[in-house]
Amino acid sequence: MKKILVLTSISLLLYATTSWAASNCPQPRKTKAAPSNIASMDKTAKANAKNGKKIYEKAAKPLACKMCHGKGGDGMGKLGKALKPNPRNFTCSDTMKDVSAGQMFYVIKNGSPGTGMAAHKRTLKDKEIWDVVKYIRSTWVH
Ligand code: HEC
Repeated sequence: MKKILVLTSISLLLYATTSWAASNCPQPRKTKAAPSNIASMDKTAKANAKNGKKIYEKAAKPLACKMCHGKGGDGMGKLGKALKPNPRNFTCSDTMKDVSAGQMFYVIKNGSPGTGMAAHKRTLKDKEIWDVVKYIRSTWVH
């Protein structure tokens, strides 16, 4: 009997997690488009995804990207849950397939005004932003 109860709560928990995950993929996206000359830029070929991961998980200021965008980029970071609009879920190919590397670079650098997404132009060098873009782009299922 006890075992059945445990199993039932585990499946309920799994169900709850899956439906919340499903609710942020695909995600409504109203982020301002980057100017076209920046949107078409892509300097990820020579970027360092390992360094990007460090920035994402720990080094970024004022807050690590992970606090909002979640471990592995799933959009479910502790702080992010309370934000409207929600932080982007980078693992969701339905949303991310149309977001170019240059668009990401622009939003990381300049922020998305009126949302929780802050500008990082004073705290990250351009090279570091390309590193983090490369890392983020490795988290979704293409
Ligand atoms: C305080 C929470 C928070 C932190 C910390 C944060 N973000 Fe965001 N981020 C958001 C929110 C909210 C959005 C959604 C903005 C929107 O809908 O326009 C977003 C959107 C984005 C986007 C989507 C751009 C697009 O055009 O769709 C990228 C890329 C991004 N963030 C990268 C980062 C990176 C990299 C870091 C760390 C350097 C970071 N974010 C830190 C909250 C955060």
